Amino acid sequence: MITREYTKFISEFVCHPKAVGALSPSSSHLARHLVRSVDWAHTATVVEYGPGTGAITEEILQRMPPETMFLAIEISSRFAEVLRTRFPGVRVCEGSVRMVKSLCEAHGVSQVDAIVSGLPWAAFSDEDQTAYLDATMQVLRPGGQFITFGYLQGLLLPAGRRFRRKLNRYFAEVRVSKPVWANLPPAFFYTCRR
Ligand SMILES: C[S@@+](CC[C@H](N)C(=O)[O-])C[C@H]1O[C@@H](n2cnc3c(N)ncnc32)[C@H](O)[C@@H]1O
Repeated sequence: MITREYTKFISEFVCHPKAVGALSPSSSHLARHLVRSVDWAHTATVVEYGPGTGAITEEILQRMPPETMFLAIEISSRFAEVLRTRFPGVRVCEGSVRMVKSLCEAHGVSQVDAIVSGLPWAAFSDEDQTAYLDATMQVLRPGGQFITFGYLQGLLLPAGRRFRRKLNRYFAEVRVSKPVWANLPPAFFYTCRR
């Protein structure tokens, strides 16, 4: 990741701390863990939530079979611009995951096999967490995967604990990873199945 992208990340955090939720992009180590958890043999369509400057996007593009349909949904227009420059072939949808159904439909997608999320759930209100998970259920197929990470310190926050309880209500299966220390701050991730 070049310094210019780090600078953009930090300045976007300063302007929108709650939406960005982190001071630096995810490490390639964390991105690899997340993307390896995707059941690629049964994934024809994958959506990334909150790609930021593309740390996880890069790993998805390296791993996904060439015929996979891939959409990235990013609320920040500055990050969307970075992504379009960095990955010219990627379909970057500028908007909120709250609108995931209509954003997918605009690309001819009605059902999604896997969602890899970079959203900062522990920074979101109860209402936003519910709205984004409800929206997810409108597109994720039964048996589909929802993979998302959090920072270890987020588990101490009421919003982080609330999110964990919500996952258990929304998904048939919720697996919690071991800590991923090679990330700033250290992280962990959830692998959920609908
Ligand atoms: C913690 S950063 C993660 C960035 C990147 N995935 C990474 O791991 O380095 C959170 C990202 O989610 C985006 N975001 C926050 N709320 C969003 C929403 N409602 N819809 C889409 N993207 C959102 C932010 O703009 C930011 O890019």
